Amino acid sequence: MKSSLSIETKLPTHGVSVFSQIAALAARYNAVNLWQGAPNYSPDQTLIDSATEAMKAGFNQYSAMTGVATLREALTEKIATLYGTRYDPETEITITAGGSEAIYATIAALVKQGDEVIFFEPAFEVYEPVVRLQGAKPVPIQIPLDRLKIDWNEVAAAVTPRTRMIIVNTPHNPTGIVMEDEDIAALTAITRDSNIIVLADEVYEHVIFDGMEHRSMCRYPELAERSVVVFSLGKTYHVTGWRIGYCVAPADLTSEIRKIHQYLVFSAPTPLQVAVAKEVSRPESYQRLRGFYEQKRDILTQALSTSRFKLRPSHGSFFVLASFDHFSDLNDFDFAKQLLVEKGVGTIPLSVFYGHGAETGMIRLSFCKDDETLREGGRRLSTL
Ligand SMILES: Cc1ncc(COP(=O)(O)O)c(C=O)c1O
Repeated sequence: MKSSLSIETKLPTHGVSVFSQIAALAARYNAVNLWQGAPNYSPDQTLIDSATEAMKAGFNQYSAMTGVATLREALTEKIATLYGTRYDPETEITITAGGSEAIYATIAALVKQGDEVIFFEPAFEVYEPVVRLQGAKPVPIQIPLDRLKIDWNEVAAAVTPRTRMIIVNTPHNPTGIVMEDEDIAALTAITRDSNIIVLADEVYEHVIFDGMEHRSMCRYPELAERSVVVFSLGKTYHVTGWRIGYCVAPADLTSEIRKIHQYLVFSAPTPLQVAVAKEVSRPESYQRLRGFYEQKRDILTQALSTSRFKLRPSHGSFFVLASFDHFSDLNDFDFAKQLLVEKGVGTIPLSVFYGHGAETGMIRLSFCKDDETLREGGRRLSTL
């Protein structure tokens, strides 16, 4: 059916995302899934049991708009232990429907028409359209693909009196880079004495490798007082479908974010919040993630060691970039399609992480998969 209404789209340059297109093709070719940033293994049985118990115990209605109190309290303790800042569970922590909702609510609450928002490309696909929906101007800064390092001089030069927000993401999807001391120092210097809010997307906080430390904005008082920091319980507990995340921010910022959150979803799923609260209080539940995913990265790297791909170093996140432009002239979308059709492997063309497309010569591989999938994907890609 088609309506007879005239509709002016609010996102004229966005169609159905390439992720959905790849998903459809991957299903058609029964492809090995190295494209999606969601695990293909189950969460701990204790978590599933806790969720079932919570439902049986009657936690089936809306929670407090701000989130289940025991979960917010457990998160206060966790953040204080890990990053040394004590966020008030009443006024500074909000449980959201995934990290994605926290990002949406933060931008919608704090960015106005005419504002400018700086972020780094390649970028998680949610930032740009959400900035645009506020009537604000997205200001993408390119991360050079040969160096994979943010050029902070370029950031400083892009700041104008209209800059309202800088969005950072560490560990970074899709490149696997992580912020280091010099990045924190540069961000601090650029935002000092300004009215710029930092939106820190830290959903991969525990997925960091090679002995590196996660530099959360929560750690640095000068940054923390201007930052909204977003986390994902879905990513941490292998339950991305539960749609559960949170953001922390000073009380005045949080109060604005909650005004949007209450009209978007009001509250995140109650029994799932109750279940996750128990896990958050057990540090081993997230401490083991680092080794778990480092091993997966290494299995995929090993499986591709005799392939023609050149892998870029990934120090965190679920992802690693692979270049192919030294042996194929195809653009990255057609190349990813070729891998699907001819090799039965689903990957993501890197250009989808750019608002206006890009010639990248790279694909993104996801290693949050069981070991057999990683080995089979690597084997198939090595036959190219
Ligand atoms: C960088 C980044 N931020 C945020 C999210 C969203 O997290 P959630 O699934 O909790 O909404 C993702 C999910 O892929 C991501 O990669």
